[in-house]
Amino acid sequence: MKAALLRALKQAKGEYISGQEISDILGVSRTTVFNTVSALRTDGYEIESVKNKGYLLKKVPDIIKDYEVESILETQWLGKKVVYEDSIGSTNTLAKELADKGYDNGTVVIADHQDNGRGRRGRSFVSPKGVGIFMSMILKPAFTPEVAPMLTLVSALSVSKAIDSVTGEKTQIKWPNDIVLNGKKICGILTEMSMQTDYINNVVIGIGINVNNTQFSEELQDIAGSIYLQTNQLNHRADIIAQTLYYFEKYYNVFLETNDLRGLVQEYDSKLVNLEKKVKVLDPKEPYEGVAKGITQTGELIVQTNKTTSYVSSGEVSVRGMYGYV
Ligand code: BTN
Repeated sequence: MKAALLRALKQAKGEYISGQEISDILGVSRTTVFNTVSALRTDGYEIESVKNKGYLLKKVPDIIKDYEVESILETQWLGKKVVYEDSIGSTNTLAKELADKGYDNGTVVIADHQDNGRGRRGRSFVSPKGVGIFMSMILKPAFTPEVAPMLTLVSALSVSKAIDSVTGEKTQIKWPNDIVLNGKKICGILTEMSMQTDYINNVVIGIGINVNNTQFSEELQDIAGSIYLQTNQLNHRADIIAQTLYYFEKYYNVFLETNDLRGLVQEYDSKLVNLEKKVKVLDPKEPYEGVAKGITQTGELIVQTNKTTSYVSSGEVSVRGMYGYV
């Protein structure tokens, strides 16, 4: 009810909309409209009501609850079911449990805070309350397990485009899946898969975006940043979530045409922060340097050294810029 009412108020685009009109659109009584408006005011929405004119939405709080996201979502199937928690251990952990319980392809778990946010390579992901986006998408694809790691790159491209569209900035991707804005990491992605030998039960893609954070601890400061710290602009987190889901659905459809990245390579490369730059490949056998040339159709980083061309797989090694993180 809240989502539908918010959508009606937002679609009025700064004009008043009468209680009668809203109750007609929603198919509910005027009393229900009145009560829902009251509940939304308690949530922090500023909704003006004027006799004989109706309701006007004046201010939307920066909340990422299911109904706020649903009221602006423009997808066909992704995020049609949103599970929201104020505080949780890890959205990936909950999403995995829900996927195993039978929640559908396209379900999205969102939290305002995580106290056990998980990163890649067993690291933790700092997830403070009220400033970030912590979300996980459940997918149940028909393709075979070796295809799944490429989804991380599809996600990175989607988040990068989403942030650009909301902020007007130009974010970049540090291969394979960190989003970088003005040299700082503002988003990380953790993809986890549950599988049989040749069959995927489910894939959970966890996305953590530092949106309005005003500070980071000393040990993170060199690498991590937030959209706010890098641009001095606060953003509505729900807008970034809705755009991320929109772009992911769009790029995932392209991906599914071939079960690889061939339809996305060009766009991905155009965002690659290391493109044509020197990188250090931290190969555990022997680290080496080369120039990043873009990605292959299956998501490896192409690195040109004096002698040869290498194809670096994301699971195996990490890549650094020559002078630090990028
Ligand atoms: C990384 O950069 O190492 C990946 C970070 C992934 C963090 C997100 S936040 C939402 C989801 N839930 C988690 O516990 N982790 C991912």
